[in-house]
Amino acid sequence: MTPRSFLLTQELSDYVRANSELPDDVAADLLAETAAMAERGEAPATFQIAPEQGAFMQLLTRALRVRTAIEIGTFTGFSALCIARGLPDDGSLLCLDRNPDWTAVARRYWDRAGLGSRIELRLGDALPSLQGLPANETFDLAFVDADKTGYPAYVEELYPRLTPNGVVLLDNTLRGGRVLDPQSDDDRAVVGLNAALAADERWETVLLPLADGLTMLRKR
Ligand SMILES: C[S@@+](CC[C@H](N)C(=O)[O-])C[C@H]1O[C@@H](n2cnc3c(N)ncnc32)[C@H](O)[C@@H]1O
Repeated sequence: MTPRSFLLTQELSDYVRANSELPDDVAADLLAETAAMAERGEAPATFQIAPEQGAFMQLLTRALRVRTAIEIGTFTGFSALCIARGLPDDGSLLCLDRNPDWTAVARRYWDRAGLGSRIELRLGDALPSLQGLPANETFDLAFVDADKTGYPAYVEELYPRLTPNGVVLLDNTLRGGRVLDPQSDDDRAVVGLNAALAADERWETVLLPLADGLTMLRKR
């Protein structure tokens, strides 16, 4: 079958961004500060999700009427800002990350956006944090963007904690195209998980070729 999507040229990528919801001043400043950190060698340049992915996640959160959300892998807080913006006033987002310096930047921007009270950040290794949550703490939406070899365990831990019809978003599931020629343990972990999820009857699965690949799972 003829491919319907393809790796974007710089011009097409700019076009996609320009024709999606644009980051507001707070988000634009966060993107700029994170880019400056990357230039100074204080943070990886590739960690942050793309602006158009942030726009999609904000829209999806609002359209699905998500009230409770969880994020695994927060960094400087852009994806969390987008999810939190899609929540209602009494909604909540729990963020798990182990890096205090990057997440300090995140907290500053969440507060500036007036979203600080909607977001709880827990510092530490994400898997024990997740496993330690009370069994009755459930989520309508989960976004996973941390260590790739940890994804299978995160998905398993999330499954019983999702509400019916709950959605999981997994980032970087195309690995820059390396899913076709895996070159690292991270690549191999994602290839194995992609195949396992496609065959797993518990989930309705779509791998969206948005940015670096965003897999969307709905709990059946
Ligand atoms: C790709 S970045 C997340 C980017 C973020 N979603 C954004 O859009 O800005 C990955 C983050 O996961 C965190 N991380 C990686 N492995 C982790 C682990 N085992 N436990 C907790 N945090 C982890 C890192 O500290 C880093 O901040």
